[in-house]
Amino acid sequence: MKDLVDIHCHILPYVDDGALRAQESEELLEMQYQQGVRTICTTPHLRRGMFETPDEKIVLQFERLKERAQAKGLDVALFLSREYHCDSLLLEALRSGTVRPLGNGRCILSEFSYGAPEEDIHYFIKTIQDSGFTPLIAHIERCSSLQETEQVAALIEMGAKIQMNATAILGGEGRKRASWCKKLLKAQLVHVVASDAHDPEDRPPQLSECAAHLERKYGSAYAELLMHTNPSDILNPHGGSQHAERDA
Ligand SMILES: [Fe+2]
Repeated sequence: MKDLVDIHCHILPYVDDGALRAQESEELLEMQYQQGVRTICTTPHLRRGMFETPDEKIVLQFERLKERAQAKGLDVALFLSREYHCDSLLLEALRSGTVRPLGNGRCILSEFSYGAPEEDIHYFIKTIQDSGFTPLIAHIERCSSLQETEQVAALIEMGAKIQMNATAILGGEGRKRASWCKKLLKAQLVHVVASDAHDPEDRPPQLSECAAHLERKYGSAYAELLMHTNPSDILNPHGGSQHAERDA
């Protein structure tokens, strides 16, 4: 397995319900590093009425994170994007051209509420595409309106990409959800596995454990595709430098 890439996590402090303080943020970063993660795209929430932290504050915290990583001598490529809840704030960001895709590519980490109807999911996929971007649907396993593999296949058919959380695969969110994850993984309806880490204790990154699990259950080629190749390609679709400091 090549080095791991995490393109969905909440390790920036003071910006959402992720890391509470700088110390927690550092802890999360070190945990990811120890697990073999060498590329991280941090994705603070943007959600109407819940997480409306302005971009300037996010950028400031991101700069500090980079400084801390450097001070600790961690050789890790850091990118800054957001996890966009599919609501009017995302529509505004698309309209105003202020949307932050994942890395240097055109993918947008797009989150839906647990019970979002399938029609809403289709509407936002289409709207994001019409704006010239590709939706990467965050933690697909949480979308309760999607119960059959055919429904997820239809989203991919429309052009969406699919992200799944490592913790859910490992059973940390219950047996029922883990078995749904297994079904989707077996059907090859997942493009990316990421941590969605929020804090070191309750929602830690579990990427190395998940990589070992995927290798054991599905083989090393599939594990590498989900945890290295596909997320790398999303961040840097044209290859080139892994580092994104200039894009922050
Ligand atoms: Fe998230």
